[in-house]
Amino acid sequence: MGRIISVTNQKGGVGKTTTAINLAASLAMNDIPILLIDSDPQGNSTTGLGIQKSPDSPTLYNVLMDETDVNSAIVKTEIDGLDLLPSDKNLVGANIALVPKPEREYTLRKKLASIRDRYHYILIDCPPALDLLTLNALLASDAVLIPIQCEFFALEGISELLDTIDRIRDSFHHKIALEGILLTMYDDRTNLTRQVAADLREFFKKEVCKTVIPRSIRLAEAPSFGKPIALYDPKSKGAESYIQLAKEILGHEPKA
Ligand SMILES: Nc1ncnc2c1ncn2[C@@H]1O[C@H](COP(=O)(O)OP(=O)(O)OP(=O)(O)O)[C@@H](O)[C@H]1O
Ligand SMILES: [Mg+2]
Repeated sequence: MGRIISVTNQKGGVGKTTTAINLAASLAMNDIPILLIDSDPQGNSTTGLGIQKSPDSPTLYNVLMDETDVNSAIVKTEIDGLDLLPSDKNLVGANIALVPKPEREYTLRKKLASIRDRYHYILIDCPPALDLLTLNALLASDAVLIPIQCEFFALEGISELLDTIDRIRDSFHHKIALEGILLTMYDDRTNLTRQVAADLREFFKKEVCKTVIPRSIRLAEAPSFGKPIALYDPKSKGAESYIQLAKEILGHEPKA
């Protein structure tokens, strides 16, 4: 059964989408089927993978609203083995439209039940909010990957996020693991980056991924060409770092 991982942090602009796209692509390059779910009304994972949707092609919103079957919303991407469940700005309505539904927090989980066997990993790109969409993502997930930008306010909001994850474990009796804390936009020429990284490793110990994602203009450019870094500039440091992260995540799997 596919392992479902939410890429989440309610702080904006920390590298969630960059990580979701490039980790998904790097995992798929190991010849394993991967699904990336764009669960952010900004639709950055969708456009970042070069998916040009027509206004009436189905999205995650239509799936959550029972308007379409999950299979008919999933599309293939330019990377072999990487599928996408796309989103656009309509998804913002889901936060309100789901409220009156029974078991509203479990809507995504139920929708994924029939397809999770087809994928080795399902990654969910979350919005920068602890809203009903994020709650749906967390309750559908086996684990969370938390990107943190190595800067002064790096820890801002992290305790709130970890409290939410604890609440999900206690109140919803949902087993959810911490896949890892990922240091992003890492620039080891600056003292601040090095200090923040050292503090995070001291505080979170082994929960911090060994792989760090460097600050790289190529990583920032790739989405405007609708490509993951593995296609846009496969030899770059950014591409290498996400291949390394994919290896690290695959290494978390219990050996058979
Ligand atoms: N390693 C990196 N090096 C340089 N720029 C980066 C890197 N990672 C992300 N960026 C850039 O930083 C900005 C924010 O990144 P991204 O969209 O991945 O964050 P996010 O957490 O998904 O944001 P949001 O909270 O709005 O969804 C983008 O312009 C992206 O291109
Ligand atoms: Mg994003």
